[in-house]
Order: sequence, then structure tokens, then C-alpha cells
Amino acid sequence: MMPIFAPLKKIGMSIMTPLKRHKVKALLTSQEFEQSVRVCGWVKTQRTGKKFSFCELNDGSGLHNLQVVVDNALIAPEVLKRAATGAAVCIEGLLVKSQGKEQAVELQAQKLEILGEADGETYPLQKKAHSLEFLREQAHLRSRTNTFGAVFRLRNAVSYAIHHYFYQKGFVYVHTPIITASDTEGAGEMFAVTTLPLDNCPKLEGQVDWKQDFFERPAHLTVSGQLNAELAALGLGEVYTFGPTFRAENSNTTRHLAEFWMVEPEMAFYDLADNMALAEDFLKYLIRWTLDHNRADIDFLQENYEPGLVAKLEGVLASDFIRLDYTEAVSILQESGRQFEYPVQWGSDLQSEHERYLVEQHFGKPVIVINYPKDIKAFYMRLNADEKTVAAMDILFPGIGEIIGGSQREERPDVLLRRLHEMGLPEENYWWYLDTRRYGSAPHAGFGLGLERILMFITGMGNIRDVIPFPRTPGNAEF
Ligand code: 4AD
Ligand code: MG
Repeated sequence: MMPIFAPLKKIGMSIMTPLKRHKVKALLTSQEFEQSVRVCGWVKTQRTGKKFSFCELNDGSGLHNLQVVVDNALIAPEVLKRAATGAAVCIEGLLVKSQGKEQAVELQAQKLEILGEADGETYPLQKKAHSLEFLREQAHLRSRTNTFGAVFRLRNAVSYAIHHYFYQKGFVYVHTPIITASDTEGAGEMFAVTTLPLDNCPKLEGQVDWKQDFFERPAHLTVSGQLNAELAALGLGEVYTFGPTFRAENSNTTRHLAEFWMVEPEMAFYDLADNMALAEDFLKYLIRWTLDHNRADIDFLQENYEPGLVAKLEGVLASDFIRLDYTEAVSILQESGRQFEYPVQWGSDLQSEHERYLVEQHFGKPVIVINYPKDIKAFYMRLNADEKTVAAMDILFPGIGEIIGGSQREERPDVLLRRLHEMGLPEENYWWYLDTRRYGSAPHAGFGLGLERILMFITGMGNIRDVIPFPRTPGNAEF
């Protein structure tokens, strides 16, 4: 039988030269037994026994903990007791094949250093499972839980996959400004950016004198990087922007944030059909990526939050998304025999109950609704030949509703100008946008994917506040 503790000389040099820090995730699948390792992390649980004590360590690298066995003769139980749940520690020891069935490897501790204690009386994250609501109030600590470890690793994976997808396709990543003087969506939901004193604004003829403000004009946080992405696409061909966007809509729903991340590809020489094909391929790529790279996290979330999560994700990969005309969608809804809270009529926007009926009841798979009435969509969408609808596309997902919004863009200068006027937007603010239509205009298209919406779908989290580390919503900017 293998001795539980190797003689001290076995760890040899490690006492003289500090070992490099190992990650728990790598050690759990390591085949190099009897190696000396050093790991740092947070104690999940510990229990002291007569001869041996145990603790579980997690450093955030993965879902599973490293089991640490402590010989009470080497490290006094009083010391280990100070390394209570939540404490940060560094442990050096020997990695061995586990004798227990629960795990493949375990660490036989030789040395334990306590970096930061966590008082058991007051530490909010004791071993018991906490509600998501409670953890939202502990957002400064919730990254240490299994749930948020899994969610935030998935957020990282999806962000990386987004860059990976576009990079391998030759798209150029462009950084679009966060502060802007133009409104892309025209929905009047922008946060103002000003250095003027609110209680004593300089006035000119009874109006705020914006000339005296920092940018010498009204400025806002952007609701979308699209207009700038269009400028870039009409030179670089295929581009995307990916960053935070802001909406001051006062909607306290489980699907809206005041600050969210959006990825917006924009492609010259694409029409609406090309745009839909790219969006469908892109969404499937992101889902496939997480199944391939973060399976343990997804399995954990399936077990604890959404039964059937993996089958749902695989279902989307296997399905061809429906292409559905808005007008056709309205007929389906009207003929459904359903009593909706909001009436369905041609010309009104689809409400989330309508979207969910189409996706979840009628088709049972993702649906791309296209060709919406022009009056409910933004000025930049390409006017169709009927002059009533525009080449818009919304991608609707089960359980989520709208996950992507996009369109082919209006590339004809005269039509674009007319649409700007119709929507009451000041032409002079968009002179640079109009220039791209005057000089070398080309058909182009693009879309915006809300990062948090796809993450809700992939993680099974029902509230958008639980897929972003520090959510911003009406009345909430703590942390
Ligand atoms: O449909 P939206 O408003 O489209 C645009 O902003 C276009 N400029 C995009 C483009 O064509 N480049 O927003 C796009 C997506 C939505 O489908 C949704 O996924 C997400 O952004 N989104 C939100 N996510 C969280 N909170 C909010 N308040 C959101 N508003 C939109
Ligand atoms: Mg939209």
C-alpha cells in the first residue's frame, strides 16, 4: 500500500523555490501522480476528523472542487479550523490518485497558508443553497458560488466564441464609440452625457445652451454601435462591433437591462437572405461552442435550473429556423383562436406573448420574422417595393422571444433622406451617414445579438440579471 504521505524529501526543491501555482481544473484531470503542487483558492467545505481532516477547494477555474486531505499530525486541526468556508488559502502538497470513489485525484497537504479568513458568523455564503434573489443582493460575492461560476464561465466562453467566429471568417473587429450625438434606434431611450450642472444649466432663450456643454451639443450613451459599424463596413467589407450599449427604457422585466452587451456584425454586399443565413449559422456556432467547451457547467445548470437544457440546445442545432413574413405571422396569430392580452393587428408590434406563441406553440423552433411595417421600425431599414414594409428581421427563440434584431439597410440616398424626414430626424446630424450613400453606396445588412439574451438561453437562467455580473436596471446600480 502506498504511504499516505510521501517522505518530505520527495517534495524536495519545492520547499526552497516556491512551486508555480496550479489550477484546480487542470489537476482534476491530471495523470501525473505523486507530483508536488501548489494551489490557491477558496474553501468550500471542511471537516476535521481524528487522524485526518478534509477540505474542498475551488479556485474558479471549473465547477468541481479539489479534495484536500490533511494529516492532523502535519497540520494542526486548529489551523485548518481557521480555513473555514469562504476563506482564501494556498496549499502545497502531493497530488495522488484518490482512494475514495467520489473523485479521481486528491491533494495530500504538506503546507497550508491562510491568506484571508472568512468569519463563519457573518460570511453570507454558507454551504446551504441560496436563492438567486438573495445572491443578486450579494453580487459582490456571488462569483464564488457554483451557479455564478458556471454562468460567468459561459459568458466568457460565448464572448470568446463571438470573436473566434468572426475572426476565422475574416471580419474586422471595429470599436464604435460609447458616447454619441445620434440616436440609432430612434426610440428616445438614451441616457444623457453632460458636464453641465443640473441645478444651474446655462440657458439661451429659455433653452439649455448646449454650446457650453463638453461636446458643444447634446450627447448620449449609445443604444447601438450600428451606424458607426455601417461606416466601417462600407470600406472594410465585413465588420462587427461588440461592446456595452445603454437603454433608458423604464421596463422592469426579466429580459431588459439598462446596460447590456451587444454584438453587431455589419456586411457590405449582403441582402436580407444573406443576413439571415449568417445570423442562423452564428447562433448555432455559439451554442455548439459552449456544448463542446463548457459541458460541465451546462450539465450543472441543467441539473439545478432547467431540466432538458442540453436537449433544448441540441434541438436548436438540429433545426432549420423558420422564415416568416410579418403579415403571415399576423394571420397565424389571428387564426390561432388564442385570447391574447394585446390584440393582434397588422401594423402593431408583436408582443412577447405573440412571439412566444409562434415559437413555442405554432412552430416549436426558432422563427425569423421578416418584413415588418415600416412605421414600427427604425429609419435605416431598407424600404420594400410595397412601400409599406421594410427588410427587417427579428429572430425569436423559445423561452426568450427576440434574441436578434437586424435588417438590410437603406442604401438609396433619396429613399433614406425621405425616411429620415418622415421620422422627424434632423438631417444635419446624419450628414456623415448620408455621405456613405452619396459616395459608393452599396447594399449592406447587419444585425444585433444581445449577449445576455443568448446567455439566458444557454444557461437556462430565467432572469437577465443573473447572466451579467453587475446588472444595471431601473433603480439599481449597486456594486
Ligand atoms: O433590436 P435592437 O434594438 O436592434 C438594434 O439595436 C440594431 N441597431 C441592431 C443592428 O441591426 N445592428 O437590439 C438588438 C438586440 C435585441 O434583439 C436583444 O437581443 C438585445 O439587443 N436587446 C436587449 N438586451 C437586454 N436589455 C435590453 N434592454 C435590450 N434591448 C435590446
Ligand atoms: Mg428589436
